[in-house]
Amino acid sequence: METQTSKIVIAIDGFSSCGKSTMAKELARKIGYVYIDTGAMYRAVTLYCLNNGLFDGDAIDEAKLRKAMNGLKITFKINQETGKPETYLNGENVEKEIRSMRVSDKVSPVSAIPFVREAMVKQQQELGKQKGVVMDGRDIGTTVFPDAELKIFVTASPEIRAQRRVDELLKKGADVSFEEVLDNVKKRDYIDQHRDVSPLRKADDAILLDNSNMTIAEQDAWLQEQYNRVVGK
Ligand code: DC
Repeated sequence: METQTSKIVIAIDGFSSCGKSTMAKELARKIGYVYIDTGAMYRAVTLYCLNNGLFDGDAIDEAKLRKAMNGLKITFKINQETGKPETYLNGENVEKEIRSMRVSDKVSPVSAIPFVREAMVKQQQELGKQKGVVMDGRDIGTTVFPDAELKIFVTASPEIRAQRRVDELLKKGADVSFEEVLDNVKKRDYIDQHRDVSPLRKADDAILLDNSNMTIAEQDAWLQEQYNRVVGK
């Protein structure tokens, strides 16, 4: 009989479009953990701002957003057909819209607002308090779960990440250019690393993975090995 392994928290942080979610989802599926995409939560808040006239160019009406924050309910539900989790904002499925360039363009400034981060971090800690979660984001190993048993920090070159994003968006039928996406990736890297609250950085005890030259199968196998090592399998 297999002994029951006690559940842990797995924090996967790193730059945008570096394949974090692909490997996080696959590990969660294999070991029966819940996968939580924290970027989707910041994207959903950004979509709310866009759809409710809270942007004036790049400026955000923070007073209005602060008032609205408590009423924003972000949840995840598995799509029974695809088996993949999808994001809901106040009960409405926003999975497709939050991945658009319209949202990608504005998400970094929204996620740099301290009261937005505070609200999201609280929800994320709640979602992971029973453990058994694979959470991906920018500050999971540093701020959300500084005591996570396994922390990974993923990176790849901006060009490789932009090409991966272009391929993904083209597959979904979006009309985007490599230059436009590369520009967005670089801009987000900068804002994510230089914001005052919880900037993107590797936790001291996180394991670094540069997957620029790895296939998806190779990175999945690498992550599984890290998990096995930590739980002593
Ligand atoms: O992972 P993603 O590209 O979907 O994330 C979208 C944006 O959200 C990203 O530019 C930075 C922000 N983010 C964050 O600040 N903290 C997180 N834990 C996750 C995402």
